[in-house]
Amino acid sequence: MQTPVSLADLALPSAAEDCAGNAAERMRRLAEKAATCTACKLAETRTRVVFGSGNPEADIVFIGEAPGRDEDAQGEPFVGKAGKLLDKMLAAMGLDRSRVYIMNTIKCRPPSNRDPEADEVAACHPWFAQQLDILSPKVICLLGRVAAQKVLQTDAPLKALRGRWHELNGMPVMVSYHPAYLLRSPQQKRHSWRDLQLLCQRVEQLEAGEQDAEL
Ligand code: URA
Ligand code: SF4
Repeated sequence: MQTPVSLADLALPSAAEDCAGNAAERMRRLAEKAATCTACKLAETRTRVVFGSGNPEADIVFIGEAPGRDEDAQGEPFVGKAGKLLDKMLAAMGLDRSRVYIMNTIKCRPPSNRDPEADEVAACHPWFAQQLDILSPKVICLLGRVAAQKVLQTDAPLKALRGRWHELNGMPVMVSYHPAYLLRSPQQKRHSWRDLQLLCQRVEQLEAGEQDAEL
């Protein structure tokens, strides 16, 4: 005979618990579950699941491709050379890691940093989707071709996607260069800077709209 399920067993969050104020706790619980994920073959070669870092209540979320060697070792996204440049880009926007959230399309490092494969992106999607649901940021910035193509589900080349607004579940999405690419092609930094300014402007506009609505 089936044991009846009590409400307590279901552990449904109360309305208060489920509100944005508790994003940090919801994110912590989700990251804890993801830490032991074996849903795709990358689980066999990774050192750690690199879930994401920063402020779960941030207005801006940056999404990269996948953890690299440094990230796999440390368990944090963008801590290698590309991450140092991302820090500088944030500083130029008057921000730092405590004011934004940073994550990747997939949570485990592909061997030799090869591109994530379709089955891996699909297997990791539930984590990605739940994470974005908790975040529900004002704007999203996709860094580089792989993140842009996977998240926006398109084969369009980066040059057709970059510097323009797209949409994901009603959220505005900007596509920009990956900082690792900017390290190789520093002459593109001025384009990247324009993308980041568009991002900041959009957040300001959305904030101004919210304030008007409150008046
Ligand atoms: N490159 C990425 O796309 N993500 C990281 O976390 C680090 C490097
Ligand atoms: Fe799980 Fe994603 Fe890591 Fe694959 S990449 S094992 S789906 S967390």
